[in-house]
Amino acid sequence: MIKKNIVVAAVCLMALAGCNTSPSSGKAGDDVEKKVASLLSQMTLEEKIGQMVQQNPPYDAAGIDAMKEQIRQGRIGSLLNVVGAREVNELQRIAVQESRLGIPLIIGRDVIHGFRTIFPIPLGMAASWNEELVREAAAISAKEAASMGIRWTFTPMVDVSRDPRWGRIAESGGEDPLVNAMVARAMVQGLQGDDMSRPDRIAACVKHYVGYGAAEGGRDYNTTLIPDLYLHNVYLPPFKEAVKAGAATFMSAFNDINGVPASGNRQAIRDILKASYGFDGFVVSDWGSITEMIAHGFSADEKEAAFHGLNAGVDMEMASLSYSHHIKSLLDEGRVKMAWIDDAVARILRIKFRLGLFDQPYTSETLADSVLVHPNHLAVARRLAAESVVLLKNNSNLLPLKKGTPVALIGPLVNEPYEQLGTWVFDGKAENSVTVLTAMNEANGAGNTFFAEGLKYSRDKSTAGFRAAEQAIAKAQVVVAVMGEESILSGEAKCLAELKLPGKQAELLQLAASKGKPVVLVVMAGRPTGLAPLHHLADAILYAWHPGTMAGPALADLIFGDVVPSGKLPVTFPKGEGQIPIYYAHKNSGRPASAESWMHIDSIPVHAVQHSTGNTNHTLDYGFTPLYPFGYGLSYTTFAYSDIRLSASDMKQGGNVTASAIITNTGNVTATEVVQLYIRDLTGTYTRPVRELKGFERVTLAAGESKTVSFELGNDQLGYYFPDGRYVVEPGKFQVWIAPNAAEGTPQDLTLE
Ligand code: NOJ
Repeated sequence: MIKKNIVVAAVCLMALAGCNTSPSSGKAGDDVEKKVASLLSQMTLEEKIGQMVQQNPPYDAAGIDAMKEQIRQGRIGSLLNVVGAREVNELQRIAVQESRLGIPLIIGRDVIHGFRTIFPIPLGMAASWNEELVREAAAISAKEAASMGIRWTFTPMVDVSRDPRWGRIAESGGEDPLVNAMVARAMVQGLQGDDMSRPDRIAACVKHYVGYGAAEGGRDYNTTLIPDLYLHNVYLPPFKEAVKAGAATFMSAFNDINGVPASGNRQAIRDILKASYGFDGFVVSDWGSITEMIAHGFSADEKEAAFHGLNAGVDMEMASLSYSHHIKSLLDEGRVKMAWIDDAVARILRIKFRLGLFDQPYTSETLADSVLVHPNHLAVARRLAAESVVLLKNNSNLLPLKKGTPVALIGPLVNEPYEQLGTWVFDGKAENSVTVLTAMNEANGAGNTFFAEGLKYSRDKSTAGFRAAEQAIAKAQVVVAVMGEESILSGEAKCLAELKLPGKQAELLQLAASKGKPVVLVVMAGRPTGLAPLHHLADAILYAWHPGTMAGPALADLIFGDVVPSGKLPVTFPKGEGQIPIYYAHKNSGRPASAESWMHIDSIPVHAVQHSTGNTNHTLDYGFTPLYPFGYGLSYTTFAYSDIRLSASDMKQGGNVTASAIITNTGNVTATEVVQLYIRDLTGTYTRPVRELKGFERVTLAAGESKTVSFELGNDQLGYYFPDGRYVVEPGKFQVWIAPNAAEGTPQDLTLE
């Protein structure tokens, strides 16, 4: 191997708190810092500890009274899951008017992909690759939540996830750091805006810091083993981007990373997040994750857990009470420093000031009616839902259908207003949803739409409804089967060992396919489901994730061609669970697989003698390619990529080259293509992935139209993080692709001198 000279391009040590002046930090500068310092100087130790306590309200009246008394005493600084302007105002009034210093509460809630207007699940939003639209959706979520008194939400989740068995992949931006970084930026900016103190803005909480998506075996809460090289290059970048975008708060995760729980991880929180990235907001622990360090086998008891949390730099404890119970004695014993407590409290107060809670702690009690599910919000939800859908297959251009085509609508999710919303929906309501049935009846005419779900719900194992489905199919020309997972089957702790469609859905699809009529499969799911065995049964596949409130109209728009599909996969679809983990940015290995090298299990002669020559990095049964690669998605048109070039094939350190391509819409309809830029660093001090996404652009082209799409390539794209966190750009040879997905395209050569 030729060893490159190492050039340290940027040592990622940013200045400490106070230097992050991004637009959405909502900072009022020195003024806020003075107010924080002044307030802090007046606080007793008990009041300081109180700010570090976040509680979920109890369910009984006596418990509520006790909680109110604690607020009055300044022993609770934050609550979660109090919803409604009146409810919030009542508690806020106690904090502001009846506590000694009148410090307002900060009230948080999971508003993960919409408050009342529900947008696609985050994985679906990522599939739109439309940063502007995701930002708009987040701004709407903020506005709706704020009208209900909620000024802080526990989103975005930007855990890179390469395992579709993990239920929480639904809440992530998928497998790629750059796409997750896009989601992080869009959500933070959308929620917080330029000025968080505006009444329609709320504070973001970026989660789960860090590595949560790497849960072993795709089982939630599981341990993670993440080498520093991967931590810095794969898992941390979206979080770093969120800091740059001005994120107000972070949430420490449940998992342990290489043996140290995330919520007790001083290196991750104090050293990287706070010192190196310059994050000046506060860190809240995930629910109970401080005291869960006892079960992890990291903290001996509740007191040790409090020590570990505070030592790591977790500023506020969610749900468990170890801070409330033990910080004082830990301080008396000299185990924690007063400076740690002051820093934590200052961070919390800083965000409360930036949110404008001291000036305007209350919410108008009549606002929500005019804000929730406003028609403008539904219009954005419809657009984003349509843009998040990925067309995976479209044999003989079956789609779009002509309006008026007799269509059989079958499948357990055709008319399920709640199940189309997806995971983590607390405040969305089924009654606001428009289902596929309703939208198809409207778009296609009720007389042309024959509905028989066949299965009552996704896990239904009874075939009693199959006969009715057959009758509906008999009347139709085309079958549209809406299948997948109910909302509750993905999200937190909803992990699967097998990805197949639940219940008897495969059998229903089989039945539909046996009737000799074209079948359109629409999948609503929180993860890549096991499509491989079913794939051949459908002539067209629209992968819709869980699209939210406006699922029906968005899908009807696509089915009839009023909207042309433009979504692309933010995650690789495996052929089967045994391929997991499978992701595009894998390493080459010493024996990379190729079409020529793959030895199928049946091609091995009987009684073959032991040999390893020619063996490559594949499996005998599935080979080495996935079912669908990252970045993949079809359209109702085709796009040609031509004249792909670099402005120069050599580049000097610190210089730039432009990569460009002409993209032509070679079909008959106006459509949008997500053009992707990938690089490969061919030789490194550390081995680099076979491809890395470094940019993308959505380009809309009329039929026959061409446009040149250009990307600048410089240090920011060509370097990577060493295990110690330094960003290094190494001279050497690179390959550059401009391509429609991670598996296609011809690379251009680039040499960095
Ligand atoms: C636990 C989840 O992991 C986290 O994502 C969520 O925000 C909190 N609970 C609060 O509900």
